[in-house]
Amino acid sequence: MKTAVVYYSQSGNTEYAARKIAAILGADLIPIKPVKAFPDKGFRKFFRGGKSAVMGDRPALEPVGFSPEDYDAVILGTPVWAGTFTPPIRTFADLYRDALGAKPLAFFACMSGAGAEKAAERLAKFLGIDAFRATLALVDPKDKPDPENDGKIAAFCEKLK
Ligand SMILES: Cc1cc2nc3c(=O)[nH]c(=O)nc-3n(C[C@H](O)[C@H](O)[C@H](O)COP(=O)(O)O)c2cc1C
Repeated sequence: MKTAVVYYSQSGNTEYAARKIAAILGADLIPIKPVKAFPDKGFRKFFRGGKSAVMGDRPALEPVGFSPEDYDAVILGTPVWAGTFTPPIRTFADLYRDALGAKPLAFFACMSGAGAEKAAERLAKFLGIDAFRATLALVDPKDKPDPENDGKIAAFCEKLK
């Protein structure tokens, strides 16, 4: 089975998890990037990103090297911003909604405290699916290493084999 791990990461935590998941599953890593980067410092980082997430913005993305027909399953990864998934993932989900909805989908999110469950619910609704086949929530896995994370990632991947 060929799987894609499509993710947005602003400061590396989601990317850290994406790499681990892709290594376990032998999946392709597909990072997505907005054409205009979100501020990554100071007050603007939280204000602009949070506002954009809450407003449901769909920022233009750099060209995405993703052809849905190449994959049997897709895993979507995002940081939690203001209790939901990030705007670049919203754009991606919007662009590929029909193709994604027809495949097994899984979801993982990185957060500093809470909100991954809500983010998963919101993205499932946005995609028009009942629920993801598997979900995973991690607390800043790169910045706050936790020995339990490897087990959580392994259990998540096991559900997708
Ligand atoms: C704009 C913004 C909003 C955030 N909102 C939340 C939140 O609602 N809940 C939470 O637990 N963490 C929140 N965070 C923290 C990030 O989700 C967390 O640090 C995540 O691991 C970052 O992933 P990344 O390194 O891949 O960008 C927020 C961070 C930013 C920049």
